[in-house]
Amino acid sequence: MAVCSDKTVLNQWYAIGATEEIEPERMTETVLLEEELSYTVDALGSPKVWRTGHDAGELVPSQCVYGYVWTCLGEASGEVFAIPEFSEPDRRNMNAATIGVNVSAPRAIENFLDMGHFPYVHTDILGVEPHTEVKEYDVEISIENDEILATRCRFFQPMASQASGGGADVEYIYRVPHPFCSVLYKSSPVDDKRMDVIAVFLQPVDQEHIRAHMMLSVLDEDNDDKSIRLFQQTIFGQDKPILENQFPKRLPLDPRAETPIRADKSAITYRRWLSRKGITYGVIPAAA
Ligand SMILES: [Fe+2]
Repeated sequence: MAVCSDKTVLNQWYAIGATEEIEPERMTETVLLEEELSYTVDALGSPKVWRTGHDAGELVPSQCVYGYVWTCLGEASGEVFAIPEFSEPDRRNMNAATIGVNVSAPRAIENFLDMGHFPYVHTDILGVEPHTEVKEYDVEISIENDEILATRCRFFQPMASQASGGGADVEYIYRVPHPFCSVLYKSSPVDDKRMDVIAVFLQPVDQEHIRAHMMLSVLDEDNDDKSIRLFQQTIFGQDKPILENQFPKRLPLDPRAETPIRADKSAITYRRWLSRKGITYGVIPAAA
């Protein structure tokens, strides 16, 4: 019997570790949805995942996608959502970091969607005063793909990425294709027709703890992996204390729980989408 009783959450695929950080055949242990798991990846890149303490022959579903081992503890329905850019040959794909955070997964997704905090939390990098206004943008729930899409997001950023040459108006597109994953597209400083991809794949350890896997798929021929990673780790290091100070740690879905402002349009849509899906894990459901 699974610990998590939220079937929608249980039936999702979750990233549990970056394959490039795992030695072939070496067993690694982790926790997903309060269940202890063991996993290995063989020399050919095939994963095996099982519940720790059970027979290693009783495997749970697994696959390697976007440089991570993914698993599902319920009934896996469909594939991991598509990120077509990942397979473009000139992109640099990497795990920027896997960071444990004492917060619920939905709170972390909501923070990832929020541009309003850039000038205050990521000062002189992703934002700077007086450029604090979140300009009008569009948010929709794509019926076809069952995902949230926020477009026309624009923000002035002093240093949008490791490849930036200086301050620029940066365009963002956000996708939320999974209750606990988000994919962000932002203007590439080196190619004005394409966008860098930054994805967060959250692994809910329990309702109030996550491991955040940050995947990068960027256009950058000049900087080494270490400095590209370091940039992203610096940003996440600034978010981590903010996330851990959220109260309550679970995301309240009642529309009256926290006062929305215009900048939160994507957050309001996200909460509504979780409500509509009947999500109960990591949230405080709205009273019936
Ligand atoms: Fe942030």
